[in-house]
Amino acid sequence: MAPGATHPGQLALLALLLPLLGALLPGLGGAEISMWPLNTIIPKGGSMKVNCSVACDGNITSFGLETHWHKTEVDHRDKWKIFELSNVENDGTLLCHAVCQGNQTQVQGNLTVYWFPEYVKLANLSWQREGQHFNLSCQVSGGAPRTNLSAVLFRGEEELFRQSVGMEEPANVTFRMLASRKDHGANFSCRTELNLQPQGLELFWNSSAPLKLQTYVLPATHPHLATPELVEVGTPVSVNCSLDGLFPASEATVHLARGDHRPPLTITHNGDSLLAKTWINGTEKEQGTQYLVCEIMLADEKVVTKKNVTFYSFPPPNLTLSEPEVSEGTTVSIECQAHGEAVVTLNEVPAETPSQRAQLKLNVSAEDHGRSFSCSAALTVAGHVLYKNQTQVLSVLYGPRLDERDCPGNWTWPEGSHQTLTCQARGNPTPKLICRREGDGALLPTGDLGPVKREITGTYQCQATSSRGVATRVVVVNVIHNQNNMVIIIPVAAVAILGSVGVAAYIYNYQRKIQKYELQKAQENAAMKLSTPASPP
Ligand SMILES: *[C@@H]1O[C@H](CO)[C@@H](O)[C@H](O)[C@H]1NC(C)=O
Ligand SMILES: *[C@@H]1O[C@H](CO)[C@@H](O)[C@H](O)[C@H]1NC(C)=O
Ligand SMILES: *[C@@H]1O[C@H](CO)[C@@H](O)[C@H](O)[C@H]1NC(C)=O
Ligand SMILES: *[C@@H]1O[C@H](CO)[C@@H](O)[C@H](O)[C@H]1NC(C)=O
Ligand SMILES: *[C@@H]1O[C@H](CO)[C@@H](O)[C@H](O)[C@H]1NC(C)=O
Ligand SMILES: *[C@@H]1O[C@H](CO)[C@@H](O)[C@H](O)[C@H]1NC(C)=O
Ligand SMILES: *[C@@H]1O[C@H](CO)[C@@H](O)[C@H](O)[C@H]1NC(C)=O
Ligand SMILES: *[C@@H]1O[C@H](CO)[C@@H](O)[C@H](O)[C@H]1NC(C)=O
Ligand SMILES: *[C@@H]1O[C@H](CO)[C@@H](O)[C@H](O)[C@H]1NC(C)=O
Ligand SMILES: *[C@@H]1O[C@H](CO)[C@@H](O)[C@H](O)[C@H]1NC(C)=O
Ligand SMILES: *[C@@H]1O[C@H](CO)[C@@H](O)[C@H](O)[C@H]1NC(C)=O
Ligand SMILES: *[C@@H]1O[C@H](CO)[C@@H](O)[C@H](O)[C@H]1NC(C)=O
Repeated sequence: MAPGATHPGQLALLALLLPLLGALLPGLGGAEISMWPLNTIIPKGGSMKVNCSVACDGNITSFGLETHWHKTEVDHRDKWKIFELSNVENDGTLLCHAVCQGNQTQVQGNLTVYWFPEYVKLANLSWQREGQHFNLSCQVSGGAPRTNLSAVLFRGEEELFRQSVGMEEPANVTFRMLASRKDHGANFSCRTELNLQPQGLELFWNSSAPLKLQTYVLPATHPHLATPELVEVGTPVSVNCSLDGLFPASEATVHLARGDHRPPLTITHNGDSLLAKTWINGTEKEQGTQYLVCEIMLADEKVVTKKNVTFYSFPPPNLTLSEPEVSEGTTVSIECQAHGEAVVTLNEVPAETPSQRAQLKLNVSAEDHGRSFSCSAALTVAGHVLYKNQTQVLSVLYGPRLDERDCPGNWTWPEGSHQTLTCQARGNPTPKLICRREGDGALLPTGDLGPVKREITGTYQCQATSSRGVATRVVVVNVIHNQNNMVIIIPVAAVAILGSVGVAAYIYNYQRKIQKYELQKAQENAAMKLSTPASPP
């Protein structure tokens, strides 16, 4: 091997070292190769021009650019060459090389491509239970260089977290979040930031579409299902299902079902409370026990309450009188008949053996008029005894009754006293009563008479008449007044005495006045005589 000749191993080492030393270092044997631009960043798919120039005093051979991209030499002089690279899709290295006087020289430069992510989107913004951690993942597809790419999570305009995007494709950036009530309905978005400021370019960013986060609270308690245990078919009953501590109550859904039947619901919300109301109305066919189920659902979770409701049919018993209106002395039969499995009690007399039917026979008298008969049917439904009662009133036809109790026969009162006279006939139908005084036929005054006058004294003939006969009675009214003549004599005598005393007193007084006058006159005359001298005759 010739002295000075470079060993291939040394050359390889040099080739390795050269790029590290950079283009500014001279090539061996005074040759100096350089590349411009050396390190560059261009948009993906773009093109660029590279100037390889060599400082060589001797013959230059094998002067070129080594790259795996498509290149074209667009210009050249002795000491430099311009190459155009196009369709640059990814990062790589460029190597300008030349042989100067048999000596190899080269320089390596780096080419970086940049591009914006093809898409950025937020995933997993489903319902999140309050107080639980969850992963919010932001998917980033594409984008380079990844070292300059980060994902930023925003709540509205507020930046929450920032993370660099990894190398995997597509990349998955997850943010660990704590679900809270205040985040319910908040808009979250993920923003990618490609920061090329160190490369002398700008900061490029792109945002995902905003998504709303939904957080919820569903208590572990069962809903409160308020329903009657027993429901009579054909009688609608109100049923409520409610739950407190639900968030957001307005977004919960309620199912209230009875078998396959889902009655329409009226749902109201009040703060964190929810109330669903409905009516259930059983039909004859649905008799028996059914499950009533109330389900409250929120965010794929649900709480359930079930209750048994027994539907039953219980018509009131039939209480019948053989005749609604009977004549006194006849026999009436009272019968009570229950439906289904109900047992009856007639007139509160329990039967020896509980039975569906009870009967009573009665020989009616006037006293039985207006008597009521009751029939109570008892039905046992799901361990509860229910009652339904019926009442019938007996009407007995009987002739007029006018006895001492109805119309007392003897009234004796002092004149002027306040009295009430009663006289009423009984009977069904109600009899018509007329009382007339013997002699003048005056009618008997009844009711409140006020101060009694002696004119009503008399004996009255009363007659009660109805379609069923006539009853008569004598009523004596006696008004006592004082018959002693002194009652008149004393006032008359008193008037006479008072009159004579008055006349006497008048006369006496008159006489006295005259005497007084004459005395005065005499005195005046005497005084006149004294004061005037006697006139000549
Ligand atoms: C090439 O290299 C050899 C030895 O390394 C040196 O002697 C010779 O002068 C060089 N040639 C040029 C043109 O520099
Ligand atoms: C290429 O580089 C050399 C050396 O720096 C320079 O002299 C030459 O003008 C360049 N060519 C172009 C087209 O810029
Ligand atoms: C350069 O090479 C050419 C032929 O390739 C030769 O004629 C010439 O003499 C060489 N010049 C030098 C300085 O070696
Ligand atoms: C080119 O990239 C490689 C590896 O990334 C690095 O070691 C080298 O220093 C770079 N070259 C220049 C000139 O920066
Ligand atoms: C959303 O998260 C669930 C687990 O929390 C996971 O199973 C699912 O794959 C995720 N979906 C997406 C699109 O990230
Ligand atoms: C969230 O992601 C981390 C790792 O990325 C994982 O360990 C954790 O189980 C995930 N949590 C949920 C709720 O998916
Ligand atoms: C992203 O990460 C989440 C959880 O960390 C995972 O459920 C999901 O499948 C991942 N998606 C992709 C596309 O890798
Ligand atoms: C309840 O059902 C009965 C018959 O089963 C029907 O006559 C009645 O109108 C219903 N009431 C309501 C409120 O639907
Ligand atoms: C509801 O009724 C069924 C029979 O129909 C019974 O087996 C079940 O125990 C009842 N459930 C309740 C809560 O009473
Ligand atoms: C009760 O009376 C009604 C009519 O008044 C009748 O249709 C029904 O069959 C009776 N029921 C019983 C059990 O007697
Ligand atoms: C029906 O009668 C029963 C027994 O006579 C009684 O206990 C019940 O209170 C009555 N019910 C009604 C609604 O009158
Ligand atoms: C009526 O009553 C008075 C006194 O109470 C009695 O003296 C009289 O005999 C009675 N007359 C009749 C007809 O009962």
